[in-house]
Amino acid sequence: MTGLPPGLPPGLPPGATIGILGGGQLGRMSALAAAALGYRAHVYAPEPDGPGMQVAAARTVAGYDDAAALAAFAAAVDVVTFEFENVPAATLDTLAPLVPCRPGVEALRIGQDRIREKRFFEAAGLPVGPWREVTDRPGLDAAIAAIGLPAVLKTTRLGYDGRGQAVLRSPADLDPAWDRLHPRPLILEAFIPFEREVSAIAARGADGACVTFDATENRHRDHILDLSLAPAPIPDPVAAAARAHVARLAQALDLVGVLALELFLLPDGRLLANEMAPRPHNSGHWTLDACLHSQFALHVRAVAGLPLPDPHRHHDAVMRNLVGPESHAAWPALAARGDVALHLYGKSDARPGRKMGHATRLLPLGALDSAPDPHGLSPL
Ligand SMILES: Nc1ncnc2c1ncn2[C@@H]1O[C@H](COP(=O)(O)OP(=O)(O)OP(=O)(O)O)[C@@H](O)[C@H]1O
Ligand SMILES: [Mg+2]
Repeated sequence: MTGLPPGLPPGLPPGATIGILGGGQLGRMSALAAAALGYRAHVYAPEPDGPGMQVAAARTVAGYDDAAALAAFAAAVDVVTFEFENVPAATLDTLAPLVPCRPGVEALRIGQDRIREKRFFEAAGLPVGPWREVTDRPGLDAAIAAIGLPAVLKTTRLGYDGRGQAVLRSPADLDPAWDRLHPRPLILEAFIPFEREVSAIAARGADGACVTFDATENRHRDHILDLSLAPAPIPDPVAAAARAHVARLAQALDLVGVLALELFLLPDGRLLANEMAPRPHNSGHWTLDACLHSQFALHVRAVAGLPLPDPHRHHDAVMRNLVGPESHAAWPALAARGDVALHLYGKSDARPGRKMGHATRLLPLGALDSAPDPHGLSPL
């Protein structure tokens, strides 16, 4: 453990070690950003050969409930962060007395539970759509009576890529959805007839300084993020509002690190907050190639206590996820393109629905604003 020599400006010196809980691609890209700043990344995950482990300077392969392994990890690193929001909160509770954890356990806990999240959004002054907690079958009927149909029934925890959700369009949909999703805790949300989906990402330091990236438009295929357009082709005041919402949320959470906020844009220009992730986010992968300082670089800077400069976007960008077996067909052609940055995550098994990598096409500044159909403009 390097520690901070007294008298030096705040911030971990080169050679310090950043502990990362979780071994997926977000940890991989964070570890690479840490290395670029002279840090060592120590990855802690239960799987021995995940994308993050492959590029780590040090590794712990252990369960998130292994107290001895966690204590040894805490002793070996200068600060801990996480790349996977389903790390048990108890893991951070174990680590927090031993080593700084950034973001802290509170942001993790809120992000893990849609009900806490919605309440926190409301308390922070973020606009949200109508929702109700659902604890039993009569409660579902009462929630439908209050909210109406269509609606979306979701598990409050452990959902991703649209798993643990059911869209309810008619009363006949209720029983099958209930049978599939209960007895897990559930939330009913009004179905939002959004025009677009938008996300915004902030990086916030321990001193409260906060920078935001350009808002991004996100398009999904089979409930998985397919395409991100940056900057989102939306009016400037809407983009500014999205950025203000994520900065406000980061402030309310007193978060140190990167925070992503997913929003729905309504046809009348209003934004509604959907969910947050207190970590780098798939919709920010374009920042690796289109910004001087990526979301991963700013996350590492924030947790290490370094200054947070403006990200300085120097291109417009279209990012496409490479998902499942189709990604194998696509990558050689993408590797041959001069206008595309290809990122592969080192996963061997291209199962359906699995994120294998992503590709970002760079465009001149302003190209997305003036494109009538940005999607068509950039076949990737
Ligand atoms: N209330 C809603 N109204 C309309 N569409 C919704 C609603 N909630 C979710 N969706 C759609 O389903 C997608 C996934 O939902 P959500 O982001 O809440 O869950 P998730 O499974 O955690 O997704 P991920 O982790 O991939 O972001 C959204 O991006 C949106 O397209
Ligand atoms: Mg989502």
